[in-house]
Amino acid sequence: MAAVTESLKGRHFTLVADWSRDELLAVLGLADDLKERRHRGEEHHLLPGRTLGMIFQKSSTRTRVSFEVGIAELGGHGLYLAASDLQLGRGETLRDTATVLSRYLHGLMIRTFAQADVEELARHATIPVINGLTDSSHPCQALADVMTIRERFGRLEGVRVAFLGDGNNVCASLMVACAKLGAEFVAATPDGYEPEERALELAREAGGSPELTDDPRAAAEGADALYTDVWTSMGQEEERERRLKDLWGFGIDEELVRLAGENAIVLHCLPAHYGEEIAESVLYGPQSAVWDQAENRLHSQKALMALVMP
Ligand code: CP
Ligand code: NVA
Repeated sequence: MAAVTESLKGRHFTLVADWSRDELLAVLGLADDLKERRHRGEEHHLLPGRTLGMIFQKSSTRTRVSFEVGIAELGGHGLYLAASDLQLGRGETLRDTATVLSRYLHGLMIRTFAQADVEELARHATIPVINGLTDSSHPCQALADVMTIRERFGRLEGVRVAFLGDGNNVCASLMVACAKLGAEFVAATPDGYEPEERALELAREAGGSPELTDDPRAAAEGADALYTDVWTSMGQEEERERRLKDLWGFGIDEELVRLAGENAIVLHCLPAHYGEEIAESVLYGPQSAVWDQAENRLHSQKALMALVMP
């Protein structure tokens, strides 16, 4: 594992698919360790004096707070950068932004629309770039997701994950992470809401066999983890009415949880919309692992930063 850990210094984390199984496991291993150290109240200043810049072009609660608290707990400093306040918002190029910010910072997280913009930033930055969500992926979320699943079941191999609803960015990254780590994956979506073909290809290339269905009940039966996300992602607000209609019936309610069985867990990346993709009683019910999952954003991203930042 020492060789894997060394190889990660300076690496970008823009897509789960770019990282090997062992590299992902190195993050999860350190994340578990950092979680324990935090709960014991032990100091763990693995990045003293380092600064992480965080560019946000979309809203955030968890990503912003977990990265900002995370870098502080590692002994460093987080700098919140609203994209609209940067010259980037007035036409400065991603290349110039990356080149300049690389002179000040030790790591750069970005949440934006186009995956291509994150890749462009990474191409020109000499510091690690971390993808904090794009329209097509959410790799940091996937780290916390698989950490939570492993925590609950003690393994990832053979665990069956059912994603219900919109086959969106969160679905895509989770599907590839499951493929890399040996978990089974089924996506239950209405016609037209399947995961993107490119994400399916990446999952297959990673050794997975993602299944697709339009029957949420069939997906729930035999699932160890039921996962859902909002039906209208950031940037899709104008489609909300149509999406509500199209996705109706794909939400996680108590009946669906019963179909999965009493040992199944329920996951949601949050924010949630009660009565749409998830029932309030399920979110706060005994099988919900959602709050641990949200907490695990902190531990898994601290591990990620500690491994990639110089
Ligand atoms: N799950 C997630 O990324 O939440 P935020 O949008 O609040 O960051
Ligand atoms: N799919 C959602 C995830 C939010 C964390 C979105 O992109 O808005």
